[in-house]
Amino acid sequence: MRGLNGFGCRSADGNRRLLGGQSGRAHIRTGRRLRFLVTAGPTREFLDDVRFFSNASSGRMGYAVAAAASRAGHEVCLVSGPTAIEPPRVAFLTFVAIESAREMARAVTSRAARSNVVVMTAAVADYRPAHRIRGKIKKGPGTLVVKLVRNPDILAGLGRRKGNRILVGFALEASRGRARAERKLAAKNLDLIVLDSPATIGAERATVEMLARDGEWETHRGLSKRRVGEIIVKKSEALAEAAGLLRR
Ligand code: C5P
Repeated sequence: MRGLNGFGCRSADGNRRLLGGQSGRAHIRTGRRLRFLVTAGPTREFLDDVRFFSNASSGRMGYAVAAAASRAGHEVCLVSGPTAIEPPRVAFLTFVAIESAREMARAVTSRAARSNVVVMTAAVADYRPAHRIRGKIKKGPGTLVVKLVRNPDILAGLGRRKGNRILVGFALEASRGRARAERKLAAKNLDLIVLDSPATIGAERATVEMLARDGEWETHRGLSKRRVGEIIVKKSEALAEAAGLLRR
């Protein structure tokens, strides 16, 4: 497992885990390795010590991208919100567990500089309660009004300091998907956007559409998330190669 430490995946919070067992040396010799930073799952935004706001997200898509990148011989850091699934047991993967959007922002920002490809599949909560109350809010007879404030847009932040990194974003849209995804691709300064629909949440199979900057829309119907992960990794490799990051 040598070679992992240089990726900046050491974590002060002590929740880093190194997974997998193969040496992966064959890949080191080929010189094809990229450093992938993948986010997955939902974030949790606590209102008090027991209640939180979150998004529906199983984490499967992000875990599939991380596993596919590892299988392709790349080094992977997977930053994940809480999920009910096991992290992929593959070589060259470091797992970092976070809960809130602000924790994810810190984990991603500190590792982005050392990454070649960032794939943000995470369903980051756009808002968090303005104040976290200690203990448990007691119920009363009336209405409870909660003030929510905006969380940082992690991907947009990376897009503003893009450097020589490939940025891949997701857009989960219930309607007017392509138009909204095209706006996000431009606004967040992405290289590739993957459009999916609420029907894919937690599902084994997904129909997704992908658009690379300067490319045409492609539709992939009813694929396993494993396969979608492989396609995203292949496209990221092609974009990285075009940017001079990957030698053939
Ligand atoms: O704007 P929207 O939330 O639809 O953008 C989705 C993309 O942006 C996803 O790739 C998601 O992981 C990322 N995102 C983020 N930080 C947020 C919200 C979304 O990085 N606060």
